Amino acid sequence: MESMKSKINLLESKKEKALAGGGSERISKQHQKGKLTARERISLLMDRGTFEEIGMMVEHRSRDFGMEKQVYLGDGVITGYGKINGRLTYVYSQDFTVFGGSLSETHAEKICKIMDLAMANKAPLIGLNDSGGARIQEGVKSLGGYADIFYRNTIASGFIPQISTIIGPCAGGAVYSPAITDFIMMVEHTSYMFVTGPNVVKTVTNEEVSAEDLGGAQSHASKSGVTHLTAKNDLKAIEKLRQLMTYIPQSCEEKTPRKKYVKKDEELRPALNDIIPQSAQHPYDIKDVIRNVVDEDSFLEIHKEYADNIVVGFSRIAGRSIGIVANQPMSLAGVLDVDSSKKGARFVRFCDCFNIPLLVLVDVPGFLPGTDQEWNGIISNGAKLLYAFSEATVPRVTVITRKAYGGAYDVMNSKHIGADINYAWPSAEIAVMGAKGASEIIFRKEIKNAEDKEAVMKEKEEEYAQKFAHPYRAAARGFIDEVITPEITRQKLIKAFEMLENKKKELPVKKHGNIPL
Ligand code: HXC
Repeated sequence: MESMKSKINLLESKKEKALAGGGSERISKQHQKGKLTARERISLLMDRGTFEEIGMMVEHRSRDFGMEKQVYLGDGVITGYGKINGRLTYVYSQDFTVFGGSLSETHAEKICKIMDLAMANKAPLIGLNDSGGARIQEGVKSLGGYADIFYRNTIASGFIPQISTIIGPCAGGAVYSPAITDFIMMVEHTSYMFVTGPNVVKTVTNEEVSAEDLGGAQSHASKSGVTHLTAKNDLKAIEKLRQLMTYIPQSCEEKTPRKKYVKKDEELRPALNDIIPQSAQHPYDIKDVIRNVVDEDSFLEIHKEYADNIVVGFSRIAGRSIGIVANQPMSLAGVLDVDSSKKGARFVRFCDCFNIPLLVLVDVPGFLPGTDQEWNGIISNGAKLLYAFSEATVPRVTVITRKAYGGAYDVMNSKHIGADINYAWPSAEIAVMGAKGASEIIFRKEIKNAEDKEAVMKEKEEEYAQKFAHPYRAAARGFIDEVITPEITRQKLIKAFEMLENKKKELPVKKHGNIPL
């Protein structure tokens, strides 16, 4: 009969084996690439000493290609739970040192197990993806494993927050798990995502492209918009993940976390009175407005390099998490186009899923005209943003700083589509279009017949501006609740979000809506 001591020794030696991953040689290779190991990542991500591993002894079941002789305890993925900023979070971290982090049947089962736990216990799930894709030796079993994960990602969507960090390769169908989750973060130069790699691209389309250009962090941050966040290295990615988690509740049933807020001053922001340029044609940086209304250093921008004519991100006002959607006059005059509409809509929907109130800053000259936009579906893509706002039941506050023209006025969280409080600065122009364009159309004849066309044009433009280029017609109808001096915007927002704290709005019961995808 073996003694307990020898049984414990066996356990310890198995644990040691599991902790060694694919062995020291492969671990140093991982480090040489500037990457951390799967375990190092987890220990940095979770609050110290809180991580509990599940499934450390799991082995693959493959008996082909001599796989029975290559068994690594844990099978290439570390799964478990712990705390981030004191709150329960589930995590899986693929271990590239074991079969390149590739996904076997058992590897997938481990991930599914913690996904089920995360759902049952209503807590977020974070994936750290560093994988060569399907475990080639296992064939279809691996594909089945992927589909089991995709299915769970979908069912969990909108119920618990799911975040994917691409921290190594992610290719083939494997990209679809991250794509279904709420946020993707990519690490610069060491991660990539593509459905088909450069070799297949070359064979099929004859295009020559590097893995980095095809699916690196920069390409997905600025061109495709697939990634919402990027980080310089593993460490920075983990820091950003922890920061992101501070804004997000545990599940759709919870309110957003609140940070302790100590009022420092009167919350007046006199700088905002001087932010709007004299000329309506001149830009200013909407992020200066954001910085002046939110709590200090609390803004985390999402999708920073994609469609920068709209700015979206998380922030705090008097300690409460909010989501911000703001037109950016610095880029394309803040116009709404296909990409910015999609970007805004996706963000609004995330906030609405997870009870994060919305602040919308409006300075929008309209939708971008042109064949490119029309043929790329500005109609159905613009409708996404309209739909997302209309459907959102979270507290919604709007501030119109300058232009709110045409259909874009309606779309950008207007009163008519369910915003709770709508403010306008005295500089707001709420109209069908700008004074110049409007007067050119409605006074076309007078201008055409005039001797001094320039002078008449100016006069008519002035006339139109006097009548419509201000917020008071909209305020007279109650479309705007209050015209406020810019400097008191923060004070007003603090009160408005506090007032809306317990807002409850139910939509008609239905299976689900049909957003114009
Ligand atoms: C099994 C794999 C593997 C895989 C890598 N390895 N990918 N083992 N299945 N998919 C193993 C390697 O054999 C190697 O083992 C170790 O992992 C490290 O791989 P290297 O090639 O040495 O690393 P590196 O040079 O950094 O290249 C990484 C890589 C490359 C670019 C990911 O390994 C690669 O191209 N792998 C194959 C990728 C692929 O085609 N996957 C299937 C995609 S299709 P040793 O023992 O030497 O350490 C797919 C379908 C999903 O995923 C569909 C879902 C619906």
